[in-house]
This record gives sequence, C-alpha cells and structure tokens, in this order.
Amino acid sequence: MKILILGSGGREYSIARAISNEAVNHKLYFQPGNGATSELGTNLNIKDYNELADFAITQGIELTIVGPEAPLVDGVVDIFKAKGLTIFGPSKEAAQLEGSKVYMKNFLAKYNIPTARYIETDSIEDAFKFTDTLPTPIVVKADGLCAGKGVIIAQSHDEAKIAISEMLSGKSFGDAGKKVIVEEFLDGYELSMFAVCDGKDYILLPAAQDHKRLLDNDQGPNTGGMGAYAPTPLVDETLYQKVKERIIRPTLDGMQAEGAPFEGVLFIGIMVVNGEPITLEFNVRFGDPECEILIPLMTSSVSDMFLKASTNRLSEISVEFSKLFAVGVVMASENYPYSSSTPAEIIVDEVHHTEIAEYTHISFAGVSEEDGKLYANGGRVLVCVGLGETIKQARDRAYMRCGQVHFAGKKLRTDIAYQAL
Ligand code: AMP
Ligand code: GLY
Repeated sequence: MKILILGSGGREYSIARAISNEAVNHKLYFQPGNGATSELGTNLNIKDYNELADFAITQGIELTIVGPEAPLVDGVVDIFKAKGLTIFGPSKEAAQLEGSKVYMKNFLAKYNIPTARYIETDSIEDAFKFTDTLPTPIVVKADGLCAGKGVIIAQSHDEAKIAISEMLSGKSFGDAGKKVIVEEFLDGYELSMFAVCDGKDYILLPAAQDHKRLLDNDQGPNTGGMGAYAPTPLVDETLYQKVKERIIRPTLDGMQAEGAPFEGVLFIGIMVVNGEPITLEFNVRFGDPECEILIPLMTSSVSDMFLKASTNRLSEISVEFSKLFAVGVVMASENYPYSSSTPAEIIVDEVHHTEIAEYTHISFAGVSEEDGKLYANGGRVLVCVGLGETIKQARDRAYMRCGQVHFAGKKLRTDIAYQAL
C-alpha cells in the first residue's frame, strides 16, 4: 500500500517503523515527518489540507493515518473523505471529544459515563459558588486545546478562584479559556487506555501508564510524557470489563446517536478510585510515548488494522498482541519543556549485544538530519523502547539502550515503570 502519515513525532515514527517491518512492501509518505522518518519514506512539505488531499489522489495513496490532534480538530478527515480518500481518524465533530472539554464533559454526563463531578460555565459567580461546595484540592480546566497546560490543580479555594478569574478574563489561555470547568479532585492511580474504533466496533489495546512529570518521583513540571510501559499489572480482567461496559461501549453508541460516529483512536485518561474507573479525559489520537510501546506489542499487521478501522471493517479482523512487556524511556533536549535547545549531534553506538539488538529499538521524534548526521532538535528527541518477559527485563533493556545514545544536554527519567516494580 501507499500510506501517508501526518505528524512528526515518535508516535508517527513508531507506526511507520512497524509498517516498514511488515512482510508486504509499503511505500510511506510523511507530512511533515522528521529527520529520521526520511529513512523510512518520503517527507513532504504540503501544509494545506486540500492540497495534501489532492497530492494523495494523484499519488494513489490508499490510506492516510493522522497522528496528532491539531489536524483532526481542524477537520483534515472531513476534507480527505469529501474527496473520496481513506483516512484513519475522527471527523472534526467527533474530535471535539478532545478539542473541547465542555463538549466532552457534557457528552459524558448525557450518556451516564462516569466522570468527576463538575460545573461548566462562563460565569465567574457560578464557578465561585460551585468551588465553595468542593473540598480541596480543586481542579480548574480551560475549555479549549492548551497544549496540555490548561489544567490547574488548586490547593486552596483562593487559588482555584484566581485560576478561574484568569481563565475567564482571557488572561491565561485567550479564547481557549472563555469557558471553564471546575471539578472535584479524584484521588487514585492514573491509566491510559486506547481503543482503535471504526465507528461501531473497537479493539482495546493493553493498558499503559504514562509519566507526565519531567523528573524522577513525579517531580517537576508537566510534560507531554517522559516514558510509558504496558501492559500494566494494575489492571485486571474485571477492570478491563468495567472500562468496556461503562466507558467505551456507551461512548461509541453515544457518538453514533449524536450523528458523529467515532472512528480513530479513543484515548481514555482514567483515574481508578477504589477499583472503579472514572473518565478524566478523552483524546482522539494515540498518546505519545504510549504509542511507541503499544505498537511494538502488536504481532498482527498494523497497517491492516488502520485500514480496516478506516473502512468500518474492524469486525473482520482480530488484532494479536505479544506476551511481552514494553517500556519506553524518553530522551529529551536540555531545555525541555521550557524552551528550545541548540541542535546537538546524536551519536548512537553500534549494538553488538544480540539481546539488545533483538529486544530494543529507538523511535525518533525531535530530530533533524544534515549530511547523514542526526541532530537533537529540541523537545522530546527520541524514545528507547525495550521489550521483555517481565517489566523489569523490558525496563533494564530500555535503559541499556539509553546508555548507547549520546547528545549534549540529554535528559531522561531513571524511574520509568516504578509503579509496576
Ligand atoms: P487532563 O488534560 O484533563 O487529562 O488533565 C491533565 C492531568 O491533570 C491528568 O492527567 C491528571 O493527572 C490531572 N487531573 C485532571 N483532572 C483531574 C481530577 N478531576 N482529579 C485529579 N487529577 C486530575
Ligand atoms: N502522553 C500523553 C499524551 O500523549 O497526551
């Protein structure tokens, strides 16, 4: 197949890597891709979605896979479908599950899907009144996309009120903060679950845990994610069943009833409180770095899964997973997540050890290429992934691989998967 992948991160690289390793030969294109995806296919520079769709038609692209949320919220799927193309991802309307927290919370309430008690409002008086009914800490969220920064966990009522005032005045997040959500704080452990959906049917992937804080022991600022592992032993069959029955099924049925059937990856942020799964948030795409550890656990064809999901035929296939565990450790640039860093050459030692060669690999993200050399280009640079029969073995292998990657200012957490060990 000729396949176009939208995005430039480790997530998109990991999908491309898996597809490149399939027995059948595929031809890959990336918009825009990164300095390492050019090894796997052709990087494009066509920013306009209509032009990109026309390119897909003339090149005979049979499948487009969208990685990040921004093109989805902008309606890239609707544009491609209107031109008769096959594309994996939700429509603009369905992408509101991520694009608008107000849409998501109201949807959850309408279909009785468990979530934190909340109020959604643009009135400062109503927000303050509800705040006074909650114990601390109190969670305040801006409505729109804020690159992961729109959530404040306030330790006092005053702090919550300041956050509300700043959001509603447009001071913190501009238009994205025109409406706020104030909600109760849920005390439990967090999971990421991913369902690949075709509007009606879905495939549930092994549950993962992300590590959002920059530093060991969950200290420091929030990031896009510094590492992940799966499957997590914190989820048993009973919990999977509860997530399927209480969250995924009613979400797919509800979105159909809304006239916006959900196709694509439903990423459910879950807080488990006293054994009960509660929906924290939805995203409408794979998590990054969760994708980098989940894709390598699939033993059946990854390209076929995306193709069947985008043509409403998931019921025709069964997706197989290996019995191994996967751990991914993110290596980030010096100034991440605050600011950009000066490009630094990446040296990857040659792997001599057969165990490391067989059970680890690297998914490249924030890298550029010049004269055959790779440079760390800021942000999250790459993810070292280790597979193993236990989480500990997978983790040891991932860290061994990290030891073979060098660039100035490299930054990583040393405790990925600690909750499972
Ligand atoms: P969100 O973007 O809604 O997922 O929020 C980002 C992070 O804030 C989540 O991953 C949680 O760690 C935390 N969070 C959000 N809502 C709550 C809540 N109601 N209770 C506790 N933590 C929360
Ligand atoms: N790793 C969390 C995310 O992709 O949003």
